[in-house]
Amino acid sequence: MATTGDTDDLGTTELAPEANEIPANSSVNRRQGFGQGFLDTISTGWAERPEILPAPREQAAAAARRRDAVSGAFPGARLVIPAGPYQVRSNDTDYPFRAHSAFSHLTGWASDSVPDSLLVFDPAGDGHDVTLFFRERADRTTPEFYADPTIGEFWIGPRPALDGVASDLGLATAHIDDFVAGADDLVIDQDAELTRFVSELRLRKDAYEISQMQLAVDVTADGFDDIVANLPRIIDHPRGERVVEGVFHQRARSDGNWEGYDTIAASGPHACYLHWTRNDGAVASGDLILIDAGVELDSLYTADITRTIPVNGRFSEVHRRVYEAVREAADAAFAAARPGARFSDLNAAAWDVIAHRLEDWGILPVSAEESLNPETGHQHRRYMVHGTSHHLGIDVHDCAQARRELYHGGTLEPGMVFTIEPGLYFQIDDLTVPEEYRGIGVRIEDDILMTEDGPRNLSAAIPRTADDVEAWVARLNPADR
Ligand code: GLY
Ligand code: MN
Ligand code: MN
Repeated sequence: MATTGDTDDLGTTELAPEANEIPANSSVNRRQGFGQGFLDTISTGWAERPEILPAPREQAAAAARRRDAVSGAFPGARLVIPAGPYQVRSNDTDYPFRAHSAFSHLTGWASDSVPDSLLVFDPAGDGHDVTLFFRERADRTTPEFYADPTIGEFWIGPRPALDGVASDLGLATAHIDDFVAGADDLVIDQDAELTRFVSELRLRKDAYEISQMQLAVDVTADGFDDIVANLPRIIDHPRGERVVEGVFHQRARSDGNWEGYDTIAASGPHACYLHWTRNDGAVASGDLILIDAGVELDSLYTADITRTIPVNGRFSEVHRRVYEAVREAADAAFAAARPGARFSDLNAAAWDVIAHRLEDWGILPVSAEESLNPETGHQHRRYMVHGTSHHLGIDVHDCAQARRELYHGGTLEPGMVFTIEPGLYFQIDDLTVPEEYRGIGVRIEDDILMTEDGPRNLSAAIPRTADDVEAWVARLNPADR
């Protein structure tokens, strides 16, 4: 990513020939050329760097087993799994690089991976030879070292060498310039069968992945604590929702890699917009604020947690009524979760509660039973339009390319990690609901691991009953502070 370092915009000096090797998409005209004295000396005077070959990282063995599974499923085919490129944000400024999830899952290379890398399976004998191609660092005799803001070591810091990565990941490596594409290559995101296979490979998590999921949840819990502890300054700011986002971002960056998705900080009626990420509103005392946020670790595993919090620390009577109905729906989904249950049972259990509470409150235009008829009903979905659960892992919506019969139509198995996230949303201008409900949006979202013995709520430590949420706000905002 080209950013800082150019000290002027005059561009008056002739560019030396080497500097003309700057990539064509750089803003060459704004840049200073290099004088001969610089060019004569820049490659010299640097200490030797001993290359330390690391032991294979913890996840290398699991990644090797996954590669074996891929190899076995595609005999004779040449497979290409790209890490993906930088994505331009504007001009010569890119978004932070984030490797393709399948690439990371099959290599173990995560936040430290190199853009434009390729994992390549070449058919060999009964299986494949697998090679990781990437642009290793140029040595200090090349213009890349000092003149390329995108990848030059002088600009972005040291980049890895082929033998170091080979040792770290337990993989054969080669320079990206040695890769030759073949006409029959199967490329992920282009070949549907390969894309499906690697997505389904992530449906069950291994012990390392489960430990990363718990860690992602724990760091996210710290981020939620940060938000609650900062409520006074959040209330004070005219764009308090942005303060929420920023407080969480600080935790995500300091203790993880980034957020796994854009934080939703939705105060008052904004909570009814399911993916409110504009986050430009005020946070008013007396309102609820819905916060849906998750830290992505350096391993790229992410949490996905929602809590809905009374800004002044106390639920009103109607807030509490709605909140506890949503919690009852979440608890019903959790109770329906067991090995062998259908994934769709979670949704059915949550909707059952939602429909009955809406009936109790006189909001449903039909009976709960009629509303729960999937062919002729579903009136309750006006107030909870989204589903109750999705798989979670390296992607927030993990395994999204899995076949429907293995996802919504599939069964819950030990090792699966998924959300339970019912909600109720009464839009501010929804004339079908009594006035006291309008503008209230509540979602409670937890991250669940299925074990042999039943479901385990990885996020149970984050307060989730109405009473516990009130106690949480009070604990982190002592009156004498
Ligand atoms: N944060 C997006 C979701 O809950 O699915
Ligand atoms: Mn979710
Ligand atoms: Mn969420």
